[in-house]
Amino acid sequence: MEAIVLHGGQGTRLRPLTHTGPKQLIKVAGKPVSQWVIEQLKKANISDIIMILGDNNPQKVVEYYGDGSKFEVKIKYIYQGKARGLADAIYRAKNLVGEKFLVYLGDNIVPYNLSKLVDFKGSASILLAKVQNPYRFGVAIIKEGKIAKLIEKPKEPISDYALVGVYAFTREIFDVIENLKPSPRNELEITDAIQGLLDRNREIYYDIVDGWWKDTGTPEDILEANMVLLDEFNQRSIKGISNGSSIDGRVTVEEGAQVFNSRVIGPTFIGYNSIIKDSYIGPYTMIGNSCNIENSDIENSVILDGSNISGVSLRDSLIGQSSKILRINKRPLAMRFIIGERSSLEV
Ligand code: DAU
Repeated sequence: MEAIVLHGGQGTRLRPLTHTGPKQLIKVAGKPVSQWVIEQLKKANISDIIMILGDNNPQKVVEYYGDGSKFEVKIKYIYQGKARGLADAIYRAKNLVGEKFLVYLGDNIVPYNLSKLVDFKGSASILLAKVQNPYRFGVAIIKEGKIAKLIEKPKEPISDYALVGVYAFTREIFDVIENLKPSPRNELEITDAIQGLLDRNREIYYDIVDGWWKDTGTPEDILEANMVLLDEFNQRSIKGISNGSSIDGRVTVEEGAQVFNSRVIGPTFIGYNSIIKDSYIGPYTMIGNSCNIENSDIENSVILDGSNISGVSLRDSLIGQSSKILRINKRPLAMRFIIGERSSLEV
């Protein structure tokens, strides 16, 4: 069975982080969001993967995943370009999938046993979860234990069961997509396509996810995903150098990383070739690759690759790749910012 993993979309709510790359490649707990997806698929013995690429630096996805061999899966790519909707994205993989296939939104993390979803009868199987903000999702109305209706981004609070971003389909979905009309946001919605199956009197199977899951659409979502994944999966593994430091609990220090005269509290991840000096890091913190952290306390934060932080303390922060935050003890004691669109600072 194949899985289609979506890497398109605009990532507007994650700007400026998504100015230079797709949101699915933002790292949480040491790896890109979509790598968590790939590893989960592999665990469920699904290793034929089709990635749909959008128009935001799609080459970065190809550079990172290549043909998939590094991740022990096989990856093929299809270019969607402009985000014309989930159904449009899925339709483009029509010639690469068999009778049944999975679809996984590359910005969702759903720790669910996928083999349960794969083993379905009928035309489609979906996952639902109770949410407090249903207007942000597609929702399902359930009557007498069956799915009665599906609506994308409801304006009225008609159901608090949201569609989670993992779906299983048979090829029948392609027939429905061929006759689908664009939604008010001018996209071909997969929610409408599944409604099309209901209109054909097909039964839609579902399961309810009662544990944690996340659509990592906003900075707050990224921080939460980082926290939960570190908590659940981060192991103690010190491959780098620790000198004059105390490293407590489930801390990963990757190869080439160096920790000097610092305290690190798990769960925390420190990426390849990063240098931590005279600092206090953790808990719930990811420091990406090749970062330089000096004289700083950093807690519950995601610091992406190549960033340089010195003399400042951060909490609940998400710092984009190759950023610099430096305390300069020089008069005038004023702050100097060069920040991107939709940045957010609390000083
Ligand atoms: O997170 C679950 C929700 O995902 C569902 O409840 C909704 O029914 C579903 O429509 C979707 O809603 P979003 O508004 O969150 O979708 P978003 O635009 O964020 O796209 C989801 C993923 O698919 C994301 O990884 C980007 C990718 N994508 C999106 C579009 C519109 C594509 O690859 N191509 C596209 O054309």
